[in-house]
Amino acid sequence: MKELLQVLTPGEPDWLVATQLDPKRLPAHVAIIMDGNGRWARQRNYPRILGHKAGVNSVRKVVETCAQLGLEALTLYAFSVENWKRPRHEIEGLWRLLRFYLKRELPNLMRNDIQLVAIGRLESLPAGVQEELHSVMDQTACNRGMRLNLAINYGGRTELVDAVNTMLYNARLEGNLDSLEITEEGIAAHLYTAGVKDPDLLIRTSGELRVSNFLLWQIAYAELYVTETLWPDFNRTELLEAICEYQNRERRFGGLARTSTSSLDQPASFLLEEEALELPLA
Ligand code: IPE
Ligand code: IPE
Ligand code: MG
Repeated sequence: MKELLQVLTPGEPDWLVATQLDPKRLPAHVAIIMDGNGRWARQRNYPRILGHKAGVNSVRKVVETCAQLGLEALTLYAFSVENWKRPRHEIEGLWRLLRFYLKRELPNLMRNDIQLVAIGRLESLPAGVQEELHSVMDQTACNRGMRLNLAINYGGRTELVDAVNTMLYNARLEGNLDSLEITEEGIAAHLYTAGVKDPDLLIRTSGELRVSNFLLWQIAYAELYVTETLWPDFNRTELLEAICEYQNRERRFGGLARTSTSSLDQPASFLLEEEALELPLA
């Protein structure tokens, strides 16, 4: 947080939003469904790939800002397992852009102490993309600042299938298949995001009200922020505004509001009495 305030100029819009944030209640993990590149391009009569290209600049800005805020983790949805349904030339353009991004960003990742981890079924990606990804993952593996998860060929359902299959495989290998017990902790420990806290805040750009197979397990209690802004137009100001809104939400995790002091919330012994069951509900 301190680092971000150092790069902002007092009085400018981003500084004004940033100073409203409570540094002690920042989300540890932000996840983003980066959507709307195609619509951004269509609005300008550009080919879709130019929308994706413009989206890369938003990625750079958001990654840098999250690192400056001191977040523990940022997970970006870059390509879903369902995105293979798109035309071949669009997909090939995306791989070219990804390789370009990885090459160009490595020095920035190192400077900002960011560890890049690609999550998804990487083995199905073109060989050149896999090589570039593994090279950047290896070179940033010792960075101890923010962890940047790049979800590529990612699906929430395939992640769960992979986790369960890994558990079965390990149990078989260790000869304790019969006593294998599936627990929430066990599943979480075998997801691609093992060891990373669940996202506190899930942002989706371009207004779609769905999760599109993203981090299905991990977002169980994430706060959702959907904006009409298309991904290439998403900037630092809006990221800070999203975090500001997050800080105004009351997270209950299934419990009750901490501020609840109403006598109506106190133990109500009368409800045990038989006639209480006859109380009109409305
Ligand atoms: C998101 O933008 C990027 C990827 C899915 C790769 P879209 O390409 O989905 O953009 P829209 O939804 O068509 O506007
Ligand atoms: C979600 O966007 C996937 C990514 C952002 C990578 P889509 O554009 O693929 O999602 P749908 O098809 O609108 O649900
Ligand atoms: Mg889309």
